[in-house]
Amino acid sequence: MEVEVEVEVLGFGYPPPPMSTPAQTLEPPVCMDGEILANRQITPVTWIMTIHSPDAAPRMRAGQFVNLHTSRGIVPLLRRPMSIHKVIEHMGQATGFCVLYDVIGPGTENLASMRKGDRISFIGPLGNAISVPETARRAVLIAGGVGIGPIKYVAEDLQRRGMRDITLCYGSRDSDHSVPVKEAAPDGCRVLVCTDDGSVGRKGFVTELVGELISGGRLTPGDYVFTCGPVPMFKAVRDLLGEHGIAAEAATEEYMGCGFGVCFGCPLKQRQPDGSVEYKLCCVDGCIFPLETLVFEGDEEDDAA
Ligand SMILES: Cc1cc2nc3c(=O)[nH]c(=O)nc-3n(C[C@H](O)[C@H](O)[C@H](O)COP(=O)(O)OP(=O)(O)OC[C@H]3O[C@@H](n4cnc5c(N)ncnc54)[C@H](O)[C@@H]3O)c2cc1C
Ligand code: FES
Repeated sequence: MEVEVEVEVLGFGYPPPPMSTPAQTLEPPVCMDGEILANRQITPVTWIMTIHSPDAAPRMRAGQFVNLHTSRGIVPLLRRPMSIHKVIEHMGQATGFCVLYDVIGPGTENLASMRKGDRISFIGPLGNAISVPETARRAVLIAGGVGIGPIKYVAEDLQRRGMRDITLCYGSRDSDHSVPVKEAAPDGCRVLVCTDDGSVGRKGFVTELVGELISGGRLTPGDYVFTCGPVPMFKAVRDLLGEHGIAAEAATEEYMGCGFGVCFGCPLKQRQPDGSVEYKLCCVDGCIFPLETLVFEGDEEDDAA
């Protein structure tokens, strides 16, 4: 059964602010400890951790990430990058943030073993933030698998800018991996869900949902599109949107070491305006890039590079 939740955004009580591209005047990251306020399991594989950090939270912008130290010892040595899923507020002040994560290996297993009251070291906020054209009045967010991580904060940010027509197309493997709609997106978003096996929402791939939005005139050039997910999904979304002249921003995920441009451990390829292909660092040049500029393994441009 297709899950479609349509909730009107409640009145703002004042005219919505004009849409504008946020100046990418981002705050420098900090390295600090935060207290874990909650660490709850929301699917058999997915957890949401809430971290109290009134110093770091006000600096965080939609689309950015943090690099978490997942153990109290030295193994795993490297921190693990996680998108900012939500910034929590108390009396109008940002006091903490959440990350949404799938348990897939030693780092995320350690994260899942942490409890309320434990402290966790993190570096952040890292990376760039979303960049929304002033003229965009409608948004489509496209998430595959744990690419759902940054979506809620991105949607909330768009709502804060006054955008009311936001659709999330969300695809995952099966019911074990499908995050409940209320965790995936804020009220006021239209949410379309699919799974590979049809155990939640429509059976099929997220690109089918996006294709239907396009054919129904609910996604057209000029709309803001943000996507996060695995490379095969990026390729399919890029090809589909490209056919219709629709631009998108993609939050990429590369293996990372430092998270702030020192170790050169997170290269990816990006096509430049003159057609050449250059290496960029996911952590400092991104992690958000125009989707149409990314060169993935197997692309013609990749072979030629
Ligand atoms: C900018 C950024 C934001 C991210 N946001 C989130 C998020 O919000 N939620 C979330 O669950 N995960 C997110 N990730 C991925 C997350 O960092 C990895 O899942 C995590 O590091 C895995 O650590 P581990 O020790 O548990 O598993 P590992 O033992 O490190 O990895 C387990 C398996 O996953 C693969 N893997 C690990 N990291 C990556 C990667 N970056 N790309 C492709 N395959 C990988 C490994 O090859 C291995 O097969 C993000 C990554 C980046 C770069
Ligand atoms: S993770 Fe070290 S340079 Fe990007």
